[in-house]
Amino acid sequence: MKKISKHSNGLNGTLSIPSDKSISHRALIISSFAKGISTIKNLLESEDIICTATALKKIGIEIEKKFDGTIIVKGGTSIHSPSTDLYMGNSGTSTRLLFGALSQFDITANFMGDQSLSKRPMNRIIDPLTKRNDSRFSSKNGNLPIKMIGAKKTFDYEYTLPIPSAQLKSALLLSGIIHPVKTIIHEPELCRDHTERMLLHCGANIQVKKDLIGNVITLQGGLDLKPFNIEIPGDISSAAFPIVAAAITPNSNITVRNVGINPLRIGILDTLQEMGAKLEYLNKRIISGEPVADIRVFYSQLTGITIPAERAPSMIDEYPIIAIAASFAKGKTIMKGLSELKVKESNRFEAIVNGLRGNGVQCNYNDNDIEIQGNGKNPCGLGKINAKLDHRIAMSFLVMGMATENPVEVDDISSIATSFPNFVSLFNSIGACIT
Ligand code: S3P
Repeated sequence: MKKISKHSNGLNGTLSIPSDKSISHRALIISSFAKGISTIKNLLESEDIICTATALKKIGIEIEKKFDGTIIVKGGTSIHSPSTDLYMGNSGTSTRLLFGALSQFDITANFMGDQSLSKRPMNRIIDPLTKRNDSRFSSKNGNLPIKMIGAKKTFDYEYTLPIPSAQLKSALLLSGIIHPVKTIIHEPELCRDHTERMLLHCGANIQVKKDLIGNVITLQGGLDLKPFNIEIPGDISSAAFPIVAAAITPNSNITVRNVGINPLRIGILDTLQEMGAKLEYLNKRIISGEPVADIRVFYSQLTGITIPAERAPSMIDEYPIIAIAASFAKGKTIMKGLSELKVKESNRFEAIVNGLRGNGVQCNYNDNDIEIQGNGKNPCGLGKINAKLDHRIAMSFLVMGMATENPVEVDDISSIATSFPNFVSLFNSIGACIT
């Protein structure tokens, strides 16, 4: 479905954004292994999360929605091989976390995905997993479709993360819950820790300690996890779209309620503040072990900055939208250390460069860095974006069109349903013009 985003005269109001996608996947998976009934309030109801829930139901977990929207998970029951393929849609997180979690059971499952997911690298998960247990994964070149034959034996395992990937870290932790084995993970560069927080929340024997090169996470498996009640905060990665939209659109003043501000996720907010965005954290609080705040943001003229490579793990999904902010800023923005962008839902490195150029923004790149030259004026727009099944590319360029001189067109916005199903109606309700 094609959409066109036209100039807005200002975005105003108080809004709630969809619940955190990373935490929602983990809440479903971890509660499936906790012995008893867990309740999940504010689970994200998007296509990616439905893929995780459907897969868990297919292996025998009971998941129900109550009349008030709360999700009930009856966990700790016996798990069996699914009788049909597990369809992971567009969701790398569903696939990689479930590889880890399901590999510790003696079951067989076929994982399938859409065109975008079927191109994404899975060997980064499969290689270490098949050393930590005797599971087997058969595939062509490490891409979906993949047949998993779960483990008969699981071993103690110690591993140093070669890349700061929360999906890899979580897959390995989740593969060490059921059996009495030890998992030790060295994390030289820290990345989102929702799995560690949630395992702690339900009584797992997990410790996180600092050492000279980063964190060391130690998990002792084989203990019963306690069922838990969890309330999921809004997703900072979704909040980033209205926040940047308000920061670049004159006459804007919005408050985004209930946003998760886990310190390992807020690189986008630190960056925007460095660029001169007028941004306030209100009503800071802790909900189910995660820090949360309301975020108020006003329009202001942004300034170009250099975003260091070390910040990438804390804003890995936010580069497309920060690139939009940079194209409205005065001066040059350099985004460094972007190699992981090339293996997301699409090659986001390429999508950012092509999309900005197509809207009249001067943009250069070398191996892993992108340089965006802002001149403090609204870019021309008129770009036609091929979203390539990538929700964050589609949403970023719709946001761009809210403040460019001319409209921006996105060829297919269907992928937005994977994380932010009400994106268009929510934005139009605060003053955007997406038709
Ligand atoms: C996620 C981790 C990140 C992120 C993805 C969600 C998670 O991926 O890009 O959208 O929930 O663990 P990597 O682990 O590949 O960095």
